[in-house]
Amino acid sequence: TEETARRSLRVLVTGGAGYIGSHVIYSLQETRRYKVISIDNHHNSTPKALLRVAELARNSLPADASEQDKESAEIDAHRADLTKPDEIRAVFEKYGKGGIWGVVHIAAYKAVGESTEVPLTYYANNVGATVSLLQIMKEFDCSRIVYSSSATVYGVPPVIPIPETTRLQAQSPYGKTKVMSETIIEDLCSAEPKKWRALSLRYFNPAGAHPSGLIGEDPLGRPGNLLPLLAQMAVGRVKDPKLSVFGNDYPTPDGTCVRDYLHVLDLAKGHLLALEALEPNSTVFDSCPTETRYKAYNLGKGKGMSVLQIVEAMRKATGFDYKYEIVGRRKGDVPDLTADPSIAEKELGFTAPQTLETMCRDLWNWQTKNPNGYEG
Ligand code: WQD
Repeated sequence: TEETARRSLRVLVTGGAGYIGSHVIYSLQETRRYKVISIDNHHNSTPKALLRVAELARNSLPADASEQDKESAEIDAHRADLTKPDEIRAVFEKYGKGGIWGVVHIAAYKAVGESTEVPLTYYANNVGATVSLLQIMKEFDCSRIVYSSSATVYGVPPVIPIPETTRLQAQSPYGKTKVMSETIIEDLCSAEPKKWRALSLRYFNPAGAHPSGLIGEDPLGRPGNLLPLLAQMAVGRVKDPKLSVFGNDYPTPDGTCVRDYLHVLDLAKGHLLALEALEPNSTVFDSCPTETRYKAYNLGKGKGMSVLQIVEAMRKATGFDYKYEIVGRRKGDVPDLTADPSIAEKELGFTAPQTLETMCRDLWNWQTKNPNGYEG
């Protein structure tokens, strides 16, 4: 049956040990339809995350689990660097031509500010590596890819909420690497429409963690992102007496930036829907104007929350009495990134129902159980 056929599909997740990657692998394993391979260079992650994901998968197996189910709970984890084609080729060689059905490409450097300081590193790691990966996929007859893109491709959007038809105008080298990679994948699909099927998923702001508290966001060093920083302040790992709020003079309800936060597990499920949409009987490409099998979707809740609203939500979730001071704007920040997720909902069946309260509760549960992250 199609169900059985799908069960044998091997899916390679790049960046599999990262915050998003680990939750995507968890969701893939939850379906027991895929066999998961992970590639990660652990630049911003630890192999321990994958041990936790495999533990979650094993814990969810029924006592009478079949051999195939047990196999779906294992992860073929490879420490490899996408900027080294030989390391990537070695992984594909292990499974042979046609051995890997599809790739979820998440691995990337993603700090907007850092990308303005070391653009070449970002272009090599985010664009160069994507080209290498696609070339090796071609060599091994693997022509299905779900690409991790970002709302940052929109720059300062002319319309809020943002539809996918918005022109792409990234402001930072990081954002430009996302636009370039989307373009590269689209051009490949145009060149070989009978072969390639690809989707780009434009993430808004993922937050929260698996409710078990076993996996979560564990950035190396001081978090750049708001939510993990607030969690680490509340657990005492970051000792700053006050949160610096980067500007309250934006054209937004309370003057601070607005973002569209969605639960990381809702985001992860969006990847399952995307992989299903790459299968033969999918209809998502029917609306394509040409025979090119490529589309991009927004993955967001469609609900914007300001920095101060996030601080308040975390105050409620943690009981921590956050103090903050308004400081200057952060380079690269835009006033509002709120998704219009209606096309993803209509065509992929994507939804992001989990609330901000749930995101903050799950984030806090992870942080209190892992005050020093995985290595702790
Ligand atoms: C959210 C808001 C800050 C920290 C990030 C990544 C980006 C993308 C999405 C991958 C902003 C404010 C933050 C602080 C603050 N990830 N803030 N004080 O900037 O929307 O994007 O996630 O694609 O690459 O950068 O998220 O959490 O950094 O900031 O005031 O100490 O919180 O100015 O308005 P952002 P963020």
